[in-house]
Amino acid sequence: MSLKCAIQLGIPDIIYKHGRAMPLSELVAALPINHSKAQCVYRLMRILVHSGFFTEEKLSENAKEEQDGYLLTPASRLLLKDEPLSVTPFLLAMLDPILTKPWHHVSEWFQNGDPTPFDTAHGRTLWEYGRHEPRLNHFFNEAMASDARLVTKVLVKDCKGVFEDLHSLVDVGGGTGTVAKAIADAFPNLKCTVLDLPHVVSGLQGTDKLNYVGGDMFEAIPSADAVLLKWILHDWSDEECIKILKRCKEAIGSNKEKGGKLIIIDMKVENQKAGDHDESMETQLFFDMLMMILLTGRERTEQEWAKLFFDAGFSDYKITPILGLRSLIEVYP
Ligand SMILES: C[S@@+](CC[C@H](N)C(=O)[O-])C[C@H]1O[C@@H](n2cnc3c(N)ncnc32)[C@H](O)[C@@H]1O
Repeated sequence: MSLKCAIQLGIPDIIYKHGRAMPLSELVAALPINHSKAQCVYRLMRILVHSGFFTEEKLSENAKEEQDGYLLTPASRLLLKDEPLSVTPFLLAMLDPILTKPWHHVSEWFQNGDPTPFDTAHGRTLWEYGRHEPRLNHFFNEAMASDARLVTKVLVKDCKGVFEDLHSLVDVGGGTGTVAKAIADAFPNLKCTVLDLPHVVSGLQGTDKLNYVGGDMFEAIPSADAVLLKWILHDWSDEECIKILKRCKEAIGSNKEKGGKLIIIDMKVENQKAGDHDESMETQLFFDMLMMILLTGRERTEQEWAKLFFDAGFSDYKITPILGLRSLIEVYP
C-alpha cells in the first residue's frame, strides 16, 4: 500500500526526471500534496528504501548540508510511466479494493460453503464480476497485458525453438492478445488464435495472423498444432485443470504427429525446506494464497504438475525456467 501511494503520487517518475539523487526537500516540493503532510513523506520513503524500491545516496560531504538523496532501484524502474515493460498496471490491479477485499473474508470462508473468499466478499466469482463490471474487466486485462509484455519479451528471445516448427497456436485464456500478437510477429509462419471469455475479447480486431474467439475453454478449444496456457492452470483446482487439459489434448488431437504440444507458462513451486526464509519462497507462498483467495487455484510443485499431466492423459513433459519464478512447461500428448 505504501508503494501504491508512491506510484499514485508519481514519486518514481519525479525522482527519475530529477536525473540525479533527489534530496527530500526537493521531492516534497515537487509532490502534489497538502503542505500539512510534508513531514510524512520522509516516513513513506523510509519504508520504501527499506523494501528496496528506492535507495539513498550521499549528496555532499559537508556535514551542514542535507546529506542524502533518493535514487531509483531496478524494481522501481519497472514502475515508471514510460517504461515499455512497466508492471504498474499489475501492481495497481492487485491492490485495487475489489481484489484486496476478499483477504478480509478468509476466516469467514473457512467456515462457510463458498468456493472462494472472493465469492464470500462479492457474492460471485472473479470472472462473473468482470463480466458485469467494466472497470474490473479493464484493469484486470491491463494487468495481465503488462505481465504478458514482460514475459513475452523473454519468451520470443530465449525460447525460439519452442515455436519455430509450429504453424498454428491457440492461446487459451489469452486475454486481450498481448502474448499471441508478439508470438505471431516473431514467427512469420505461425497463425495465432486467442480464446477468452466473450466479454474479454468483444470488440477486439484480429488480423490475417491473429484471430479472436469468444468462448469457454471448459467447452471447446479450437484445433491447433500447439495450445498455450499462460497463467491459466494456477487459477483452477486439480479437477478443473484436468477438464481443461483434456480439452487441450483434443485441440492438439490430429496435430500430434506434427509436433503438437501444450505450452504452459506458470510457476513451479520449490519444496519448502525447514528454515527457508528467502524472499523467493515467500513470493511463491503469497501467490499460492492469492490463488486460494481470488480463485479455486493453487501454485504447484513439479510432482503436482506431473500428476495433472498424466491424469489428463499426456505422456511426457519438460520444464524450463524462463524468468524469475516462471517456467515454461512443454507437455506432450
Ligand atoms: C490470469 S488471466 C491470464 C491471461 C493471459 N493468459 C496472461 O497471462 O496474460 C486468466 C484468463 O483466463 C480467462 N478465462 C477465465 N475463464 C475462462 C474460460 N472459462 N474460458 C476461457 N478463458 C477463461 C480470463 O478471462 C483471463 O483472461
